[in-house]
Amino acid sequence: MKQVILAAHFPGVNNQTVWSDPASGSQIDFASFTHLARTAERGRFDFFFLADGQRLREQRGRIHDLDVVGRPDSLTVLSGLAAVTTHLGLAATVNATFNEPYDLARRIATLDHLSGGRAGWNVVTSSDAFTGENFRRGGYLDHSQRYERAEEFVRTTRELWDSWAAEDLVADPVTGTFATREAGAFAHRGTHFDIGGRFTVPRSPQRHPLTIQAGDSDGGREFAAATADAIFSRHGRPAEGQAFYRDIAARVAAHGRAPGSLKILPGATFALGDTDAEAQEHADHIRRQQVSPQTAILLLEQLWNRDLSAYDPEGPLPEIDPDVSEDRSIIKGRAGMYRDRLKTAAEWRALAEQKRLGIRDLIIEVTGRQSFIGSPARVAEEINESVQSDAADGFILVPHLTPTGLDEFVDKVVPLLQERGVFRTEYGTTTLRGHLGLENNG
Ligand SMILES: Cc1cc2nc3c(=O)[nH]c(=O)nc-3n(C[C@H](O)[C@H](O)[C@H](O)COP(=O)(O)O)c2cc1C
Repeated sequence: MKQVILAAHFPGVNNQTVWSDPASGSQIDFASFTHLARTAERGRFDFFFLADGQRLREQRGRIHDLDVVGRPDSLTVLSGLAAVTTHLGLAATVNATFNEPYDLARRIATLDHLSGGRAGWNVVTSSDAFTGENFRRGGYLDHSQRYERAEEFVRTTRELWDSWAAEDLVADPVTGTFATREAGAFAHRGTHFDIGGRFTVPRSPQRHPLTIQAGDSDGGREFAAATADAIFSRHGRPAEGQAFYRDIAARVAAHGRAPGSLKILPGATFALGDTDAEAQEHADHIRRQQVSPQTAILLLEQLWNRDLSAYDPEGPLPEIDPDVSEDRSIIKGRAGMYRDRLKTAAEWRALAEQKRLGIRDLIIEVTGRQSFIGSPARVAEEINESVQSDAADGFILVPHLTPTGLDEFVDKVVPLLQERGVFRTEYGTTTLRGHLGLENNG
């Protein structure tokens, strides 16, 4: 039987996170990060995951209230967590568009040293011009060039990590030799990077910290199949997940890589209850918290690409069609979510009519519902079934509350997965690559 992989996503962004709930804590206090990380480690999770954004999103020219304000730097937070955890992997989302390989390779290798081999890097490209304004030269890159740069970025980073062989660090006080002559020497001459010198960080425990990829286009999938160790995917539902899994498996084989060398981990949410009926009630309550009347209008605007602030959240959908002009977007700082606005709007209209739904109820219906709803036994079974049927290799769980949202899952669902023999009861390895059953390159 396949073993289930589990990661804990510190939520921190999107209306998934109910920051207005009285039980919700700070998104930036270290105590919040510590609570979630320790809970995940108590549950023997594979890793802790931080998403990232380099500019606060805006909608209609205002800070986007759906976003939880506060995006502390991922690698800095994870370095702190390395000191208060012992086995949990620590994965940071860091984009390959606004960073430089030398600096980033150094920071990730440092985290790998500090944590004893638990570092991971989710390579994202996120290069809209709005975000780029925060960076040197505006930092903008066309979509087609982003993966080209990301691919060369990852290759260059690995060259830097490989620039120290295991035996290069001599540290012999008798001869006074600190390092071999070759230590850290590198020269990369490529399209996007032309750099040479010596890398400052001796080989880290994993040598190549885990790389994760999250984009979903053809270019993104190819990039993952060629270079990544894991994918953070959007395709969590069983049939969709299986189709995605097959697509990636074929691409991995075409790149000459071994089956199973790229783990597929959809993001997933959950709502628990003592019975399935109670869980459904809990899920409905969470959905209404996630989609307040104000949020409903903001989410509708994201598809319509128009100011809809004058509409009644409990009233019918707008009669006008979405604005499909390419060069104007009402929301800034977020990857496009709707490929065909008119088609999606037509589907929403049909659904609203058929079920007699006003705007808010429709938005509740059509935007991200919980992936797993039920008693702990049902949720454990569905997670396991997804993994055994190759819809996924595991899940990156996104609780709706910070920082206590994972407590109940760890207390009630994890023991049931352990009873089934599909989830570890103790860590068998100390590195993140080891937890995922991937070769340790160290
Ligand atoms: C599940 C998922 C999670 C993502 N998380 C982030 C993130 O935390 N930060 C970020 O800057 N971009 C994130 N992205 C955006 C991707 O890096 C990428 O820029 C975007 O999906 C466009 O590429 P694509 O056309 O290949 O999908 C995420 C994408 C997906 C699918």
